[in-house]
Amino acid sequence: MVDPDWENFDPDEIMKSSKEYDWMNEPRFKRMFEEIEDKIQGVLGAGRYEWVDRRVFDAVFDRSTLLSLHKLMQSGEIETIDYPIARGKEAHVFHATTNHGPVAVKIFHTTNAVFKSLAKYIDGDPRFGGLKRRHRELVKIWVRKEYRNMRRMRKHGIRVPKPYALLNNVLIMDLVGNENEPAPRLRDVSVDDPMKVFEELLEIMAVCWQNCDLAHSDFSEYNILWHDNQPWIIDVGQAVVSAHPSSNEFLVRDVTRLVDWINKKGYNVNLADSMIRVLEDPVPEYPALPSGD
Ligand SMILES: Nc1ncnc2c1ncn2[C@@H]1O[C@H](COP(=O)(O)OP(=O)(O)O)[C@@H](O)[C@H]1O
Ligand SMILES: [Mg+2]
Repeated sequence: MVDPDWENFDPDEIMKSSKEYDWMNEPRFKRMFEEIEDKIQGVLGAGRYEWVDRRVFDAVFDRSTLLSLHKLMQSGEIETIDYPIARGKEAHVFHATTNHGPVAVKIFHTTNAVFKSLAKYIDGDPRFGGLKRRHRELVKIWVRKEYRNMRRMRKHGIRVPKPYALLNNVLIMDLVGNENEPAPRLRDVSVDDPMKVFEELLEIMAVCWQNCDLAHSDFSEYNILWHDNQPWIIDVGQAVVSAHPSSNEFLVRDVTRLVDWINKKGYNVNLADSMIRVLEDPVPEYPALPSGD
């Protein structure tokens, strides 16, 4: 499975040999990289997590991201980045250490594959000079949106990780799980009492809609972590307020997914009933969690 080239990945060599990293030879970037190099060993392929390889590095650590991390390390928000927890299409999530313990650092790609393949048709065409920058701006807005949604949900007592800081495409939040063991996704555990979990998740969705005025919009067993016998909601960047023209459609999709989830476990829950409960049933006001808006 491991490509021999990646197995022998030597970060220094890659940096020196790849044109893409030419900028690293400029004195100011060189200095910056030297300052953080040993703090990101966990993603450079040295140390405990040898499966971390060049692909991760290439996908995530472009110049602007390294600059952001450098800043976050200098201001003391992060001490070290240790190893990747998950890699996705839009973002990678890393285990990192701070002076107040472990955190999760979500780094959004500033250039995704789709964008890269389009870029060749756009770069060099004077009409579209600013597109790369606009893409980066869009990612920044997305990250701020996730941060704000998290605070808003916490204000209404919904268990989402506490966000600590954000800078450009980097979002720092509480690690859900234990020190060295990020919590599994609901998808990867078998819960004792699925019906109880269903009821709880449906209530969370109702609280989210009625009290926070938000539809999560990607509510699924992949975006719920299971920790200390409780669900934690994550990945809230795409959550929209009810005024969004598609909010109802997103909400219906979320409820449908949850109903499908429980019915796949052999239950027979009615979608319309569940929908009405989310929309209309009185919901409790959960006590706020720290660091809500
Ligand atoms: N705060 C966190 N604590 C522990 N693990 C996390 C945390 N945030 C994300 N993860 C892990 O990273 C994965 C991807 O994060 P997510 O926010 O869902 O990003 P994506 O947009 O790539 O799906 C999750 O499925 C989960 O396993
Ligand atoms: Mg996700």
